Amino acid sequence: MEKDIYILGIESSCDETACAVVRNGREILSNIIASQADFHERFGGVVPEIASRMHVDAVYPTVRDALDKAGLSIDEIDAVAVTYGPGLVGALLVGLSCAKGIAYSSNKPLVGVNHMHGHIAANYLCHKDLEPPFLCLSVSGGHSEIVYVKDYSDMEILGSTRDDAAGEAIDKIARVIGLGYPGGPKMDKAGQSGDINAYKFSHTHMKDSLDFSFSGIKTSALNQLNELKMRGEVPVLSDFAASYQHHIASELVRNVVLAVKMTGIRKVCLAGGVSANSFLRKMVDETSQKEKFDVYYPDLKLCTDNGAMIASAGYFEYIRGVRHGIDLNAVPSLSL
Ligand code: KG4
Ligand code: ZN
Repeated sequence: MEKDIYILGIESSCDETACAVVRNGREILSNIIASQADFHERFGGVVPEIASRMHVDAVYPTVRDALDKAGLSIDEIDAVAVTYGPGLVGALLVGLSCAKGIAYSSNKPLVGVNHMHGHIAANYLCHKDLEPPFLCLSVSGGHSEIVYVKDYSDMEILGSTRDDAAGEAIDKIARVIGLGYPGGPKMDKAGQSGDINAYKFSHTHMKDSLDFSFSGIKTSALNQLNELKMRGEVPVLSDFAASYQHHIASELVRNVVLAVKMTGIRKVCLAGGVSANSFLRKMVDETSQKEKFDVYYPDLKLCTDNGAMIASAGYFEYIRGVRHGIDLNAVPSLSL
């Protein structure tokens, strides 16, 4: 029998300090997340300097908790995986410095992980038999992409946003309608009993392309809110939230269907924070039945940033021999 491989995964690219231990890339032994969201809420978004400082306080206790919960010592870990981009540079540097320190002092290999590979890998933790190739709709606060996942480390972007990410477009409007930060989960909740057809927004479709554009949709939402305000009216919150999310979901799903038709690949995963969205999940489910493709989501807790997804992606890099030196630097705009 082959020896089990244990990866410690560290994530600090935005406002979650997270660390996990994962066995053989698929089984979570611990997954500790220290979220800073409450501290950023009063500023309406992530303040990079505050994020970096809070990561410094949280990173070592988070690592210790992850090892304790897994019941392992650092000596029993095979490699330390860490997000080195994309993300906020100061925030990334904290997790990276911690990972380098642990790897160096305990003489373990260091494996740098692309955060977006991590989001995709969250699916391997939830679907034990899932293997590439598949298509992945990767939608988060900073990214909206349709990715052709050819192999665990070999991916091609088939379409991406030309302006705002889907999560950014949701967070911005959530803030304007008074829901606060982080807007995605709050908007999701607010829209639950709403009418998806109550408000209409503009469409932006690129001809012969799987690219997205969300800034026009965001502007059309802002214009409607302004017009209502000028008339002394307020939107029906649940209807506005439901219609807006339904509209964004339909833009995303439209390109997923196109990608399935273009590639002939009938296996589709969702990844990233926005893949937790109930409007998107419902539409993807309905569409997958109609268009006959299989769909996979990460569990809700694994959609947003976490250490387990980094440990899983790190495992697949580790087994193909990827090792990084102590000179590994943060790459804030690292591409897929
Ligand atoms: O993947 P993630 O945790 O961080 C990035 O890598 O960006 O994604 C965060 C984004 C935020 O825009 C957040 O509002 C959004 O995911 N999000 C959601 C939901 N949960 C998180 N958006 C819509 N509905 C949700 N339920
Ligand atoms: Zn993320």
